[in-house]
Amino acid sequence: MTAVSACRELVIEYGHGEERVRALDGVSLEVRPGERLALRGRSGSGKTTLLHALGGLVEPTAGDVELDGNPLATLDEEARRRIRASSIAYVFQGANLLPTFTGFENVAFAIRATSNPDAPTDPLMLLRLVGLADKAEQLPGEMSGGERQRVALARALGQHPALLLCDEPTGQLDSDTGVRVLDLIDALQREFGFALVTATHDEDVAARHDRVLELEEGRVVGESA
Ligand SMILES: Nc1ncnc2c1ncn2[C@@H]1O[C@H](COP(=O)(O)OP(=O)(O)OP(=O)(O)O)[C@@H](O)[C@H]1O
Ligand SMILES: [Mg+2]
Repeated sequence: MTAVSACRELVIEYGHGEERVRALDGVSLEVRPGERLALRGRSGSGKTTLLHALGGLVEPTAGDVELDGNPLATLDEEARRRIRASSIAYVFQGANLLPTFTGFENVAFAIRATSNPDAPTDPLMLLRLVGLADKAEQLPGEMSGGERQRVALARALGQHPALLLCDEPTGQLDSDTGVRVLDLIDALQREFGFALVTATHDEDVAARHDRVLELEEGRVVGESA
């Protein structure tokens, strides 16, 4: 089966000249449909960079990225945008909601932005799925961190993604709330069947996945299942 996202000998460098930083240094991996993969490593090891690369958001310095079987280099900006909009969703660290939009509007905006014909059309139904129908009219600033993270999940589901990329989804939550958010991601993953890639520094979070890749200084230094 075609990988939902893959990279081969991927190198990503930021900056120029003296300032140049090699964030990824020859990473190869495939994300298979429906699998749950964790990227674990210390701060600065390259997790966020790899998540962005798997979502087609950064240009490789060397090596290849393939989105849904399409080499990134063969896709123009419009084609990349279309694949991202129809099949790849993010949950960013700290949720990253639009602050002047209510919970409902944040989810509705994502639904409008996707080109996926299978995407759900009812923001309230998605908020209900994450247990937040009663917060639909609230602004992100009026929600708790866990509630914001759940709205971010509802928003991601609004795209009906084949691939969900989660960057430290529980990084700013207390451990009980964190576990509830992770349980919710698991339940939604089983229901919708998307592939899940989670970046985390936390061993317990990583252990909930089918496969764990250990990153160190931009390289994969270990894999466990
Ligand atoms: N926009 C950027 N410009 C320059 N260097 C960057 C940029 N983004 C990341 N880096 C560098 O690339 C390396 C990898 O960063 P990345 O954000 O991928 O790490 P991370 O594993 O996600 O860390 P954290 O756990 O702190 O989120 C680090 O050395 C970082 O300083
Ligand atoms: Mg990061």
